[in-house]
Amino acid sequence: MKIAIYPGSFDPVTNGHLDIIQRASKMFDKLIVVVLINPLKSYSFSIPERVRLLHEVTGSVKNIEIDSFDGLLAEYFNERPEIDVIVKGLRATSDFEYEFQMAHTNKDLNPRAETVFIPASSNTTFISSSMVKQVAMFGGDLTKYVPAEIHEQIRDKLTAEFAAKRLAAQNRNN
Ligand code: PNS
Repeated sequence: MKIAIYPGSFDPVTNGHLDIIQRASKMFDKLIVVVLINPLKSYSFSIPERVRLLHEVTGSVKNIEIDSFDGLLAEYFNERPEIDVIVKGLRATSDFEYEFQMAHTNKDLNPRAETVFIPASSNTTFISSSMVKQVAMFGGDLTKYVPAEIHEQIRDKLTAEFAAKRLAAQNRNN
């Protein structure tokens, strides 16, 4: 039994993530998708919200588990000795340097933690959560970027966040 872990922020999950999830789930007996925190980033969705959105879009993937963890990936890997490998998606060479650094840091922290990279499918190479969030904030069309069943939730959350930001900026300027 080969078990892989697919870590990420998933703020929110996109069609790019889903592409990697669907393909990786066919390569391994089980895929554990884990929502983690990059403490240097600010997030729009809470961890329970990100987990819920992942559940909503992965209903057809049978060999998947969705989890979250407030700590280092190397630590999570250590706590779950059944996991064999970390899977990451690579969209472009611009991803490479950062992902390469993370792969080495994870292996340094836990020598058992090997990373394999899966190239993004050509139709998803340009999709990122931050791009999706910008489009959603302005009420743009999300059809090609995130699964239809979560469009409304994403748009509602992001337009509210953007309205609050605009109001705060207005209040600062007054
Ligand atoms: O989707 P992202 O934002 O590229 O995911 C990055 C994430 C959350 C997987 C990464 O920041 C992470 O692993 N965070 C947990 C803390 C950790 O282990 N960092 C890696 C060592 S630098």
